[in-house]
Amino acid sequence: MPVGIDDMAIYVPKLYIDSKDFAIARGIDPHKLEFGIGIYKMAMVDTNQDPACMAANACLKLMQKNDLKPQDIGRMYVATESALDESKAMNSFVIGMLEQIYGDGSFEHAGGIECKFACVSGSYALYDNANWIRAEENNDRAAIVIVSDIAKYDLGSAGEYTQGAGAIAMLVKENPRLVIFDPKVTSTIIKNEYDFYRPFGRETPLVNGNYSNYLYLIQVKKAFDSYREKAIKTKLIQLQEDESITDKIDYISVHLPYRKMGEKALAYLLRHEWRCLPRWKQIIEEVGMDEPTPKDPRGTIESILADKDFMKADETFRKAFMRTSFFKQVFEQKMASSLEASAIIGNLYTGSMYMGLRSLLEFEYKKNIDLENKRIGFGSYGSGSSAMVFSGVIQSTYKEIVKDMNLEREIGERSKLDMQEYIRLHSNEGKMNEPILNSNNEFVLVKIGGNTDYNAGLREYVFSN
Ligand code: COA
Repeated sequence: MPVGIDDMAIYVPKLYIDSKDFAIARGIDPHKLEFGIGIYKMAMVDTNQDPACMAANACLKLMQKNDLKPQDIGRMYVATESALDESKAMNSFVIGMLEQIYGDGSFEHAGGIECKFACVSGSYALYDNANWIRAEENNDRAAIVIVSDIAKYDLGSAGEYTQGAGAIAMLVKENPRLVIFDPKVTSTIIKNEYDFYRPFGRETPLVNGNYSNYLYLIQVKKAFDSYREKAIKTKLIQLQEDESITDKIDYISVHLPYRKMGEKALAYLLRHEWRCLPRWKQIIEEVGMDEPTPKDPRGTIESILADKDFMKADETFRKAFMRTSFFKQVFEQKMASSLEASAIIGNLYTGSMYMGLRSLLEFEYKKNIDLENKRIGFGSYGSGSSAMVFSGVIQSTYKEIVKDMNLEREIGERSKLDMQEYIRLHSNEGKMNEPILNSNNEFVLVKIGGNTDYNAGLREYVFSN
């Protein structure tokens, strides 16, 4: 049964920090943020916004634009790493908000959970719901998967310039108009790691930045190897001797903690894919140096990162590889459009790859490229750590949805924060009932209960007209 994403809606908070202002305030060269990281604007939440109301706002947009009634929805999952409660799931807050519009108890027939595995959990949520429909447990109903997060790092830390916020709601159903997931090829990998984590009680994560970058590359590559094996075995993809699987995938969309990480992930994957092919000889000629190998190629990630000579040589090689005509052509054709949104919104954790998909569809369509039957390969990564690689094919009906996609219009008029306001917001000094912006036609947080047993942590939301 063909199952996949029928439509998607986004919610991005209107406040943002400009990367130039930020760089100047922190004494960083603005070129580092624009070119080294690939960030121009980072979306920030106001004092009366949280991941649950962003999720509800994206979901309401999705339902309204598709004229969906609660009866049409059988499951609602929220994937997030910005949980609000140790026990109560974020989708229950979302249901509560939506029932203010659709009526008390209107979603009672549905089910769903909050999913957690850092940035990869949205992909698990999609997979789970696609299988729920494939198993025909859905009673003709669709599922909604929402990814919603606030990427917040410590003031003054290296992660501070990879922040962002937003939510994406995706409608998962049979015979979808946008993308059908390829069956029997989804591949995962999992390992206990401490590359990025947020112990109970902390608002910001503990991050081993370079380690997490490297682990991301390795885990996605391993999941990709397993995907290749399945794709060949199921005959989804057939390869000639001098072909790599990336030749057969039209678009590559990966986890985007920041724009540049997408480019680096593509470079890593292509080096891995092309190393054994006849074309590698020509590539090496264009690069102008041999590919370096670590002192201990079978060593751990720590030992490879500690091998300074190798790391330096490898960085030189990677940068030269990324300047080759081979890389540039693949990058422009298969990835560039998926990175546009990341540069003006920032990190969305669980949502980052799906904002990438949204960006890919909009900006490729604007280039007048025919997207019908194009295959997208997805490389999803969550710290801690797990990767999921899967693929899907764009349907002939995609134009019905994509023609109306307009990132700027959908975000709406944005408001730039000065550094003082930003620091005040980041330090949670702003009051919930004194937001910076007036809210219009959206859910906002109005109260968090006190410390008594009966109302501690109770969150109240209203739809503000
Ligand atoms: N002009 C242009 N580029 C510049 C520059 C300048 N003046 N100064 C530095 N750069 C480039 C560097 O060469 C580097 O490019 P490269 O990645 O192609 O080598 C890039 O900017 C980043 O600089 P670097 O100093 O290596 O990293 P950093 O210490 O600033 O940290 C992260 C970057 C991503 C590790 C950090 O922001 C972080 O920890 N983020 C959170 C964790 C995360 O996102 N993990 C991802 C996996 S899920």
